[in-house]
Amino acid sequence: MNSTLEVYFLPELTTAENLAGKTVVVIDVLRATTTIAHALAAGARQVFVCETVDEARELAATLPGSLLGGERGGVRIEGFDLGNSPTEYAPEVVRGKTVIFTTTNGTRAMRVAGQARQLLLGAFVNFSAVCDALRREPAISGAIVLLCAGTDRQVTREDVLFAGAVTDELCRAGGFRINDQAAIAADAWRVAARDLRGAAPLAETLRETRGGQNLIDLGLERDIAIAADIDRLTHVPRVDTANWSVL
Ligand code: MLT
Repeated sequence: MNSTLEVYFLPELTTAENLAGKTVVVIDVLRATTTIAHALAAGARQVFVCETVDEARELAATLPGSLLGGERGGVRIEGFDLGNSPTEYAPEVVRGKTVIFTTTNGTRAMRVAGQARQLLLGAFVNFSAVCDALRREPAISGAIVLLCAGTDRQVTREDVLFAGAVTDELCRAGGFRINDQAAIAADAWRVAARDLRGAAPLAETLRETRGGQNLIDLGLERDIAIAADIDRLTHVPRVDTANWSVL
């Protein structure tokens, strides 16, 4: 019992100081971390994550040929090249390109983890790769945090379920001391996973979440199925907090 695994349902439930020196996984299943994972898998050279639209525009002005991507209110920002749908980040669009990216909640959560020892991005699309990366971690630092982005400072079930899935997987082998939010997330995931073993795919569960309902209202329902495609990708995006590039 010498490693800790903490889950926070929202960035507001922890502090930059608490995350300092730890391995942090930021989770925004619908859709920021799913989309960044897709962009890198599609061959983007790197993704820069920005907290504000102005910051993104200023950075783009210094990087000719870069693509501006992201959303506010779930929709593409005026003047941006791309929105926040994984399908927009296709190889023919992003291969070899630098993407400058800002979203309402996902990139904000990353910024809270600016003093993390390692900052990784997780979503169902890279679930096993995230678990494998974290299994290698305890021996080195012994402190893992799964940080859910939420939506507009509200807890979102899709992020909690992913945090629970990772907690459940890592704790099978024992050796972790977990906080109460990790225990709650793992319980929620085990209940949801019972349905998954039946007829209902994960996409059905994600459709019912707050993030899923937002996307349905915006006519972006197909992004839910993409986000629910467990282990579609094998790469774990890593954020360099010195310059906020993601590789
Ligand atoms: C966010 O970061 O707020 C989300 O990714 C919102 C979205 O789905 O566009």
